[in-house]
Amino acid sequence: MRVGILGTGDVGRALGRAFAQLGHQVKMGSRDANNEKGKAWAAENGPAASTGSFAEAAQFAELSVLCTLWSGTENALRLAGSQNLAGKVLIDATNPLVFTPGAPPALALGHTDSGGEQVQRWAPQSRVVKAFNTVGHAHMFKPQFPGGPPDMFICGNDGGAKTTVTGILTAFGWNTIDTGGIKGARLLEPMCILWVLYGMRTNTWNHAFKLLRK
Ligand SMILES: NC(=O)c1ccc[n+]([C@@H]2O[C@H](COP(=O)([O-])OP(=O)(O)OC[C@H]3O[C@@H](n4cnc5c(N)ncnc54)[C@H](OP(=O)(O)O)[C@@H]3O)[C@@H](O)[C@H]2O)c1
Repeated sequence: MRVGILGTGDVGRALGRAFAQLGHQVKMGSRDANNEKGKAWAAENGPAASTGSFAEAAQFAELSVLCTLWSGTENALRLAGSQNLAGKVLIDATNPLVFTPGAPPALALGHTDSGGEQVQRWAPQSRVVKAFNTVGHAHMFKPQFPGGPPDMFICGNDGGAKTTVTGILTAFGWNTIDTGGIKGARLLEPMCILWVLYGMRTNTWNHAFKLLRK
């Protein structure tokens, strides 16, 4: 598959590396097609990895992954171009975080709205699936935990898109839990805050969520 990674940060580079390792063609997009982090990432990931602008990555891709700082996400989607994302699966890995020095991150919106819903409004013709937002980037691919594979909670309005993303998550080493429509992001985004607060309290960053059932 041709995959567009919209973002050159830790998440974009980790997910881009994972897709390339699984044999996909991956183009990483940025505000600057010559972004140094993007170029270094492409050099490390072989001929299947390339870089470009946000628009070039979105146009290239059959499926894109949104991995941008929340405050830049609307702009990144505008630069990617709605026509380049129309009809395609858009995995939303962002969290709508606001940062205050000396304090844990907080959510910019919630309860009656979510980042996932906002992303779907910004990219109305895309098939948005929230995923990868409830774990740190170091564990997004082939997570290894003593209790077995953790669970990735996803949500989105398009059933076919969620089936595609579930297949990707299986290849990435996750069990998937579909929580319903994109409104579910109102619950999945606070899970990121829980993940971060537990990390800050324990100074450990090797945890992931799992739903126990019987
Ligand atoms: N870090 C984690 O472990 C983790 C885990 C789960 C979810 N998340 C979420 O995933 C997202 C990415 O996190 P990250 O830590 O990898 O990277 P990040 O530093 O939050 O974001 C980097 C990306 O944001 C883009 N960006 C910043 N300001 C922009 C603007 N004004 N307009 C357009 N684009 C802009 C940058 O573009 P350029 O390439 O042009 O610089 C870059 O590609 C965030 O929403 C974060 O909350 C992070």
